[in-house]
Amino acid sequence: MVRINKYLAECGISSRRKSEELILQGRVAVNNQIVTSLSFYVDETKDSVTLDSDPVKRKRNYYILMNKPRGVITSTEDEKNRKTVIDILNIKERIYPVGRLDYNTTGVLLLTNDGDFFQLLTHPGNSVPREYEVKLDRDLETTDKEKLLAGVWISPRKGKFNKISFPKKKNNNFVVIECTEGRNHFVKKMFEALDYRVNSLNRTSYAGIRANIPVGDYRNLTQAEINHILYNYKKSNRKTRIKEQT
Ligand code: URA
Repeated sequence: MVRINKYLAECGISSRRKSEELILQGRVAVNNQIVTSLSFYVDETKDSVTLDSDPVKRKRNYYILMNKPRGVITSTEDEKNRKTVIDILNIKERIYPVGRLDYNTTGVLLLTNDGDFFQLLTHPGNSVPREYEVKLDRDLETTDKEKLLAGVWISPRKGKFNKISFPKKKNNNFVVIECTEGRNHFVKKMFEALDYRVNSLNRTSYAGIRANIPVGDYRNLTQAEINHILYNYKKSNRKTRIKEQT
């Protein structure tokens, strides 16, 4: 038996919280009876569940790591008909990018059709770590490094990097930064606030997962990687169990 909102989320309808809204809106029925109680349990072996009269069935969950290339939109579709990250995947199910990398940013992008997993990674309270390699238009000054670590104003609130390092000796316009923010254009805006331009941006790690595949390639996350995410970044006590993928 599984609680109705969890069942909807596991079927990829939306997150558990959004599924609760669908239930309260009277759009979900079990065995042809509208269910509006959030504490209703579904027996998957017997019950038939519908959303707006369409059958809701459990489907395979996807957890994908892509090493995003340049010149691709992080979106499911583009009004200008440019190539999207979804066009790269050879998968029929509807899959969503977790967060966003800019058109010319490369690196680690996760994609999933699991609403709970998506929510877990994108919830700001879960402080999911990101690491980026950044090429700047000029050397990063020590005083500016301190400011970026202390916090700089990028509307509507301050942002900060947790760590900044210079991996190449005598090359102080190439930096590696760590942060836990997912605001759009966050890294570029942080540097622009101090009058630097970002010439190239590569995400080397997201939620502890590194891009160990060629640019433009993708693979399924391993069960160990999925577990790492579930047990490290989930702040609430609810346990989300994700079945082994076959
Ligand atoms: N920050 C940016 O400015 N761009 C990205 O693509 C990701 C983070």
